[in-house]
Amino acid sequence: MDTLMDIIRRRKSIRRYQNRPLTKDMVNSILEAARHAPSARNLQPLEYKVITNRELMLKLSDGIARAMQAEGIPMKAPPAGRPDFFYGAPLLIIVTAPKDNPFAVSDAALAVQNVMLYATSIGLGSCFIGMAKLIERDKDLLKLLHIPDTMNIVAAVICGYPDEDPPPKEKRLKAEFFE
Ligand SMILES: Cc1cc2nc3c(=O)[nH]c(=O)nc-3n(C[C@H](O)[C@H](O)[C@H](O)COP(=O)(O)O)c2cc1C
Repeated sequence: MDTLMDIIRRRKSIRRYQNRPLTKDMVNSILEAARHAPSARNLQPLEYKVITNRELMLKLSDGIARAMQAEGIPMKAPPAGRPDFFYGAPLLIIVTAPKDNPFAVSDAALAVQNVMLYATSIGLGSCFIGMAKLIERDKDLLKLLHIPDTMNIVAAVICGYPDEDPPPKEKRLKAEFFE
């Protein structure tokens, strides 16, 4: 049986997915992993937009592309032209939190790490999608996602059956010991 350390070591960002949906049970257990993450002062401020609709994902991806263009952020476009910042994944989870919560980004990172490790443990790939923050630039997209003015996008993650097996990244450790 895999130890937690095996799963931590095996997790890697996956950017190609099989065209295969996740079951409702899988999605629910992924959310269960997120739910159990700690939060500052136990405020549990996070809310999740659970997106399995590919059309909506592509709309959001187009919004990210427009925001990047507006800001002059260089983009690696796939050969077909329309960039998909969610890499064809069957599940996108956008994490939101109240704007006035100073620890929300840390809370969200912990929840997403739970998601990614749990996804790894059940044979799924995953990837943190920081670019999803740019969805905030488009008020219509925020409306579409029912994100009110009081909330920020604090993280996003995709999950799905991997369709690639990239070599793992070298992981450095910079640690100073005071004994
Ligand atoms: C805060 C954060 C934001 C990220 N945003 C993106 C993103 O928008 N798109 C993407 O393809 N990967 C994104 N990544 C994935 C990183 O590129 C990836 O974790 C890194 O290259 C290390 O590779 P590994 O995850 O395989 O260990 C993000 C990762 C983190 C932690």
